[in-house]
Amino acid sequence: MKVLVKVPATTANLGPGFDALGLALNLWNETEFSTTNDGKIVVEVEGEGKGILPIDENNAVASAALQIYKQAEKPCPGLRIHCLNRVPLGSGLGSSSTALLTGMLGANALLGNLLTDEEVLKLAIETEGHPDNVAPAMLGGLVASIVYEDRVISLKLPARANRSPIHVTIVLPDFDFPTKQARAILPKQVERKDAIYNISRAILVTEALRTGDLDLLGKAMSDALHQPYRIPLIPGAQAAMNAARHAGTAAVALSGAGPSLIAFSSKEDPAVGAAMKLAFAEAGLTARIFELSTSYEGAEVTFV
Ligand code: HSE
Repeated sequence: MKVLVKVPATTANLGPGFDALGLALNLWNETEFSTTNDGKIVVEVEGEGKGILPIDENNAVASAALQIYKQAEKPCPGLRIHCLNRVPLGSGLGSSSTALLTGMLGANALLGNLLTDEEVLKLAIETEGHPDNVAPAMLGGLVASIVYEDRVISLKLPARANRSPIHVTIVLPDFDFPTKQARAILPKQVERKDAIYNISRAILVTEALRTGDLDLLGKAMSDALHQPYRIPLIPGAQAAMNAARHAGTAAVALSGAGPSLIAFSSKEDPAVGAAMKLAFAEAGLTARIFELSTSYEGAEVTFV
């Protein structure tokens, strides 16, 4: 039996929506799962992470798949997992959520969908520890999440970014900034003025994405809870954000926990990415540019 799982990249936070907002992007990992009946786990990696990612049960996709077999109390018959990875690793584009969901959805499909999509999403969020990448990767579009009592409620919001995709430029510097480290450096307590700064702006960011008002997005997409602590640790990041604005982007933010930056524009404008790349180069870092659109669609599972 073979299953193909497609899961998109995501950008989390969107400036002030720290750990709450996320948006799916049109950059997809495509993974084929086949059962082998020899009890072995064999992973093949093509694209991002080839030669770097583990190719056994320690691979993140494989271990997420095994988590589902364990949860379902079913023995794993052996799996061949072929990963075509387009989402760069450790970039701020949700690669770990993409891997997690891929493995869980693949194994769940092979098991005849023992878990509902809601149960898979809940398990993936619990495993990841924050919902803002996993939820839009699963649901597509712009997603807001809250923790209510002991569970996460994730809602796909009506957004212009869902109906007619908004153009985004991602610039990814060659700089190691693991999410764990990017979270550990944040203060445990925040001042009331910073909380107000973010609450008010997060509301307007969702409204700007709902209406497609890029001018409002530019005014609202700033943050007082995480970016001020993270940006100084990424060489050239502040200069790259300034350069993007100077080159005419409507709004720019750290994508997730970084190190990539995301700039929003009404249409593709190569000058934005080039200006950001130059700013990173001046700080001694090479950088990759991804010209993408937002995606209304989330994860997709098909039997092949
Ligand atoms: N909201 C998370 C953070 C996203 O900023 O730490 C990590 O991808």
